[in-house]
Amino acid sequence: MTKIIAMAGKGGTGKTTTSALLLKYLKDRNMTPVLAVDADANANLNELLEKEVHLTLGEIRKDLKGEIPTGMTRDQYMEMKIHQALIEDTGYDLMVMGQPDGPGCYCAANQYLAMTMDKLAENYPYIIVDNEAGMEHLSRMNLREVDYLLIVSDPSARGILTAKRIADITGPLGLTVKNKFLIVNRAPDPVPEALQEKIEAAVNEAGLPLAGIISASNELVNQELSGASYLKLEDDSVVVRQATAIFDKIFS
Ligand SMILES: Nc1ncnc2c1ncn2[C@@H]1O[C@H](COP(=O)(O)OP(=O)(O)O)[C@@H](O)[C@H]1O
Ligand SMILES: [Mg+2]
Repeated sequence: MTKIIAMAGKGGTGKTTTSALLLKYLKDRNMTPVLAVDADANANLNELLEKEVHLTLGEIRKDLKGEIPTGMTRDQYMEMKIHQALIEDTGYDLMVMGQPDGPGCYCAANQYLAMTMDKLAENYPYIIVDNEAGMEHLSRMNLREVDYLLIVSDPSARGILTAKRIADITGPLGLTVKNKFLIVNRAPDPVPEALQEKIEAAVNEAGLPLAGIISASNELVNQELSGASYLKLEDDSVVVRQATAIFDKIFS
């Protein structure tokens, strides 16, 4: 059974960073193969993994509106294209959604796409969906059920209450979420006691279980600047150890 883990949270809070750290976690534990889906219109998960994107689902969807090569059914063509769009590496594949539809609905194309994605999903025990703030792509992907929604927040009471609001919009999106967790990111290290108390109070008020706190990390800043894959972060680095504790808690 495929487990779907989706990221949520305001822009810039650390969804893509958390997605990359989660991919590393799953890969290192052989919880593979993982399908990483970059569902942000301004895709950049690929950069944290040192990968180039050649074809996105958005481009395929546009393509499907046109002529299909003779001798191929629409299904076959779609499946071929999706496999072309899949960026494959050891332990994981990466799929980039790209730009959403412009005005008007390519409904048939969307339906084909959703069906093909459903079939593709069966090959993976874990799927990570790195979202943009709005999470619209989730419904567009025909995703109706998410096993884990990880909401990332900055370390402020207001940020956590925003996270709570974001967690609550899944209902109206028609999404069933089995487990929700809050991850507080970019906290000062060590967390001042007053901040710790504020976070705990906000967490209680929001009613979102806190999976853990990730510190503001120079290791991450340097990794991003150097362009090296986050999968190569040192296992004994603070950020990897914090992420491991968080994911151990979530998946235990
Ligand atoms: N714990 C952290 N320490 C230092 N920098 C971070 C941390 N988390 C995220 N960042 C940086 O903040 C920026 C936004 O993070 P990102 O993961 O892209 O956010 P989102 O995907 O939610 O928009 C990136 O430049 C990233 O490197
Ligand atoms: Mg992002």
